Amino acid sequence: MQDVTDLAFWRLLERRAGADCYLTEYIRVYPHSRIDPHIERQILQNDTGRPLVAQIAGEDIPSLVKIAQELQRLPVAGIDLNLGCPAQVVCRKNVGGALLKDPAKVEEILGALRPAIKIPFSVKCRLGYADSSSFEHLLELFNQYRLDWVTIHGRTVRQGYGGQANWDAIMQAARLLNCPTIGNGDISCPQTAARILTDSPLAGLMIGRGAVRNPWLFSQIRQVLEGKEPLLPTGRQLMEYLRELRQVTDLGPLSRGERFHVERVKKFLNFIGEGVGADFLHAVRRASSWSQMESIWARFLDHDRPMPLIPPRKPPAGENSPATLPEKH
Ligand SMILES: Cc1cc2nc3c(=O)[nH]c(=O)nc-3n(C[C@H](O)[C@H](O)[C@H](O)COP(=O)(O)O)c2cc1C
Repeated sequence: MQDVTDLAFWRLLERRAGADCYLTEYIRVYPHSRIDPHIERQILQNDTGRPLVAQIAGEDIPSLVKIAQELQRLPVAGIDLNLGCPAQVVCRKNVGGALLKDPAKVEEILGALRPAIKIPFSVKCRLGYADSSSFEHLLELFNQYRLDWVTIHGRTVRQGYGGQANWDAIMQAARLLNCPTIGNGDISCPQTAARILTDSPLAGLMIGRGAVRNPWLFSQIRQVLEGKEPLLPTGRQLMEYLRELRQVTDLGPLSRGERFHVERVKKFLNFIGEGVGADFLHAVRRASSWSQMESIWARFLDHDRPMPLIPPRKPPAGENSPATLPEKH
């Protein structure tokens, strides 16, 4: 996740047992671009012990091939093509999710990248751009170009992050694809994740915001898969995680003062706050110094009660997004 999940964050997850595999933030590829040095450093310094998949986003085919070749000289376990990013700044350039509007261009890109990539090659996509009318055709292309796996976020690009992910569509895609399918969207409950992993055609799950909110989620899922009750963190353990985030957040090359650092950590707190409660979220969003932040954390989290860290359920966003994730909470 852009600006959120970097090596420092993966290390925090690893202290809490971690995920099976990590994905880099997307590497933006355009004519004459290089691998983002910040991401290259993370790849070279990856000490999580977990495989790392590098994600690329672009539409200029020679540049995508060149960056894919360069990435294969680095210690990455695979290369993933981003066909899902909904950010205006990316979509305006016909990159990320915008490529779903143009299956012929997707085919051209896959046709060039597949023979150029000798290590596992995957795509991360959504159900479509404005609607899912081209989805089955896209899945046929993924089959034709023998992808090693496909990750599907169960929303259209237009939906952004609103409403709920359509898990019926993800399951249907898994049945149509002839490679392993990874499901993505709104996973925050370990029981739900374990149920999907056990009883569905999916090969795995990708978890974004749920892992920022609850870095214990991966170990909780493993506990449920082993038939155990998931161990919930206490308020104090959550506070410890927030303090670690404060310590390790990458502020880039410039030291830009306390206010900048507080705002940077709020990128994480926006997700974490959803799992703590509306009053906490409201308070942290208004903090502008570490002393204010610390007193809010102490007010809400200085206790030993278990924290499920599951956000309130959002209403479905229209017909394209039925509430199909069988959450228990
Ligand atoms: C701040 C932010 C940054 C993201 N950056 C990326 C990215 O670089 N590459 C990508 O494939 N998905 C990115 N995503 C999308 C997530 O990977 C994921 O598909 C989406 O949030 C739904 O899954 P979740 O509910 O588990 O978060 C980003 C999402 C957010 C909120």
